[in-house]
Amino acid sequence: LFIGVDLGTSAVKLLLMDETGKIHKVVSKEYPLYFPQPGWSEQNPQDWIRQSMEGIKELTAQCDKSQIKGISFGGQMHGLVVLDKKDQVIRPAILWNDGRTGKQTDYLNQEIGKETLSRYTGNIAFAGFTAPKILWMREKEPENFARVRKIMLPKDYLAFYLSGEFSTDFSDASGTLLLDVEHKRWSEKMMEICGVRESQLPKLYESWEPTGAIKPEIAEELGIPQDVKIIAGAGDNAAAAVGTGTVGEGQCNLSVGTSGTVFISSKNFGVDEHNALHSFAHADGNYHLMGCMLSAASCNKWWMEEILRTKEYQKEQEGIWKLGENPVFYLPYLMGERSPHNDPDARAAFVGMSMDTTREDMTQAMLEGVAFGLRDSMEAAKSTGLTPKRSKICGGGAKSPLWRKIIANVMNMKIDRIESEEGPGYGAAILAAVGCGVFSSVEEAAGRLVKITDTEESDPQLAEKYEEKYQKYRKLYPALKEFYH
Ligand code: XUL
Repeated sequence: LFIGVDLGTSAVKLLLMDETGKIHKVVSKEYPLYFPQPGWSEQNPQDWIRQSMEGIKELTAQCDKSQIKGISFGGQMHGLVVLDKKDQVIRPAILWNDGRTGKQTDYLNQEIGKETLSRYTGNIAFAGFTAPKILWMREKEPENFARVRKIMLPKDYLAFYLSGEFSTDFSDASGTLLLDVEHKRWSEKMMEICGVRESQLPKLYESWEPTGAIKPEIAEELGIPQDVKIIAGAGDNAAAAVGTGTVGEGQCNLSVGTSGTVFISSKNFGVDEHNALHSFAHADGNYHLMGCMLSAASCNKWWMEEILRTKEYQKEQEGIWKLGENPVFYLPYLMGERSPHNDPDARAAFVGMSMDTTREDMTQAMLEGVAFGLRDSMEAAKSTGLTPKRSKICGGGAKSPLWRKIIANVMNMKIDRIESEEGPGYGAAILAAVGCGVFSSVEEAAGRLVKITDTEESDPQLAEKYEEKYQKYRKLYPALKEFYH
């Protein structure tokens, strides 16, 4: 048996899988997300540990624990976790959707220069990446910065807690802006720019490589064997891509989680010359391009729970029937936007209401706005010459048939659904199976285990209506931009 841990933003989702790929159990444990100032986003790493430990206990409560062979991870990317010389967390983790580093991001992109950054790392700076956060901390919290002995990413902190190994993997390390992605090594130049030493950074592994074994005292607490392997794991998007079979050359995956991503796998390292897409290492040993919108399913959560004050997601969508006819637009920039605008100060908007606009129209506009945000990243991919005709889909938002239909038509693509929407958790369990020697490669494992259950086809008439609406949508951000700044 293998445990896949998806250390997400809203919750840790854990999954128990056997060698045939069958999922035995899924457990989800929530933790709080803090917004201490507008545009800031933090979490307490101790919450991740507590809920993950509880989650593993619950996940394995009824199984034959002696059969557990390996644990691996998919984790929210880019988050800055810093430890002192006693391995104590110095300050709350600064997350991937935190927008406080506008100034540091501008410094990197303008003073160091996009071209130089791209040469060092394969990427330009985005506010959510780790390097600008390190610069922010150096400037704003010098006492904290002086105490830093270890810099790590969220899932690596959990792995460190479980195994005592200070490690990361190439896919997650790509999002730090400290990794020379093409050559898969920490960039001397970037370390110099950020004022960090290699000894402060974790050891690098491929995602399927074992980094160590579980600590005896943790094994005992969890009641699992002492030789359970800890496998490096991946950033959640790369893990999700493994979990949906998006490996090898030219495959596409859409993730509709707290963030929304368009992920395209590639055997070769490539950089988007317009810098809208990230150029990262993949968990299968290759590379990928990715666009990331900061608020996808979180727009739905905000709209439903904060504004409409309901948790009846499905019921709320039942009254929606005017697909393609809705005059209301929604811009999904609740936390600013990453791809393609790279603007932490952008904000969300509803546009185009009239006296007969209904609650359903607004909900529909919100679902459509997120789909258009994903389409923006797909357009960026198209501008680099990539033309995926179909895509896998995963994430909490993918559970909604209506949302999948909207996305298929806004993208004008076939959208394949996998047995489980738990992309990163399933991918992590697959990585654990590969790391324990069940499969010879990630590609082989994904090919054998991942099964498509159904496909959403786009409808030519509806796709055309959405094409028209998308062309209008694209004009809204430039038109509204000046209000945010
Ligand atoms: C990717 C990104 C998000 C997080 C979500 O670049 O920032 O998708 O990984 O957990």
